[in-house]
Amino acid sequence: MKKSLLDFLPEHAALDPVSFHMPGHKGSQLYKKLGYGDILDKLMDCDITEIPGADNLFQTEDVILEVMEKYRKLYGSKKSYLLVNGSSVGLIAGILSCTKRGDKVIMARNSHKSIFNAMRLGGLEPVYLFPEIMKEHGILGSVSPDEVSGLLDENPDVACVILPSPNYYGICSDIRAIAKVCHERNKVLIVDQAHGAHLRFMGEGYPMSAEEGGADIVINSTHKTLASWTQTAVMNVMSDRVDLGIVEDNLQILESSSPSYPLMMSLDINAEILLDPDKKRMAFGEWESAVEIFYERAKDIPGLRIIEDPMLDRTKLNFDMSACGLSGNDVEALLNERGIFVELVTGNIAMGMTGIGTTREHVNRLMDALEDIAKGRELLSADEEAEEEPMFSVKLEMAAVPEERMSRPIDECAGLVCAGSLIPYPPGIPLACPGEVITSEMIEYVKKLRSMGEKVIGVSSEGCILVGKQNKK
Ligand SMILES: Cc1ncc(COP(=O)(O)O)c(C=O)c1O
Repeated sequence: MKKSLLDFLPEHAALDPVSFHMPGHKGSQLYKKLGYGDILDKLMDCDITEIPGADNLFQTEDVILEVMEKYRKLYGSKKSYLLVNGSSVGLIAGILSCTKRGDKVIMARNSHKSIFNAMRLGGLEPVYLFPEIMKEHGILGSVSPDEVSGLLDENPDVACVILPSPNYYGICSDIRAIAKVCHERNKVLIVDQAHGAHLRFMGEGYPMSAEEGGADIVINSTHKTLASWTQTAVMNVMSDRVDLGIVEDNLQILESSSPSYPLMMSLDINAEILLDPDKKRMAFGEWESAVEIFYERAKDIPGLRIIEDPMLDRTKLNFDMSACGLSGNDVEALLNERGIFVELVTGNIAMGMTGIGTTREHVNRLMDALEDIAKGRELLSADEEAEEEPMFSVKLEMAAVPEERMSRPIDECAGLVCAGSLIPYPPGIPLACPGEVITSEMIEYVKKLRSMGEKVIGVSSEGCILVGKQNKK
């Protein structure tokens, strides 16, 4: 019989693994260290429903409102909403709250799938922003304020602008400048800050948070880098350009009517840690110094290249060992053998995601492993190394979104119009969205990812993808 989750999860925990992936708490040690160990023993007893005194997530007056107030204070928002279905639900609710059917939305082409899903649900028309390409690393970088400004001039009828900052690799955009160009034209700016819930609370040397930069709605996955549990997030409404009643209605439509109390409690614990100067100092002091160990020790490992950039959120540890002849997947496998698990691999880059629970010991274990992996390897000269182009940077031919859909084997789909999605996960950025024409390069790339064991959402278990029924562009 195959292993089930009940076998896998305790077995994995018993390995004493080092997590460089979500969630940000990195296991029970942080809670124990900060005085929340007892609550972990009572978890099942905290799994209740809307009994008297327990408030209601969709009609907040009492204990849940208290937690929302803590976040309002922490982020300086007009109103903060607790989310129990990740940033995904906040992004969908945020977009639907600022648009009506048929509206145009300026959005980054490297957006998370939830934003593409919001476009589908809302019957919205995308106008794509293409971020800069960081050629030397083969990844996408910042969105430029000039590009946003140019697109707004060409499309004065758009309802809002939405982009990720930081992106998956931690590269932020200049939100202050982008907010300025949006607000000069009276447009709402929504920032997907799923990867940057912590930025508001970091010390020197970190990019500014989107809340401080002047965005109108900011959605934060507190579970990715802070101390609340997976699926929790916070949506901050920062300005009067957004109607709170509409946001609240959309959230009650989209979220479960049985929001988990343990999840909401973890949001309260996270807020308490951020508000308590001693707890905050203890956690952030350890985390920030752990991060700096990476940048210090990386200098001494031959063949290890890292990403450093003024717009980088340094808590994302991006590294590349292609100079040692190793792809990102090779490095990931060698780290896994040593009990270390990273968040994401794209081409030659592996990304280690740190969080509030990351310790100096975790980073030292990563650096010991990278040192060990590099040992004795011959270094390739720069021209022997393969150059990688990010797939999401390609402007695709567009057709009308198909009204009728059908499944077709992937090998027969080049030149057909995509009617579903093709989404490598992670990072969850679609290669093709409904209405985009599927290319043979895309099919080869999807097949390569699948042969390496990567997940691509949108390819069925029979190896088919959804295309337009007419098979016409
Ligand atoms: C850029 C980006 N935005 C949004 C999300 C969705 O966040 P969540 O998993 O909290 O729903 C993700 C998830 O990985 C993401 O990478």
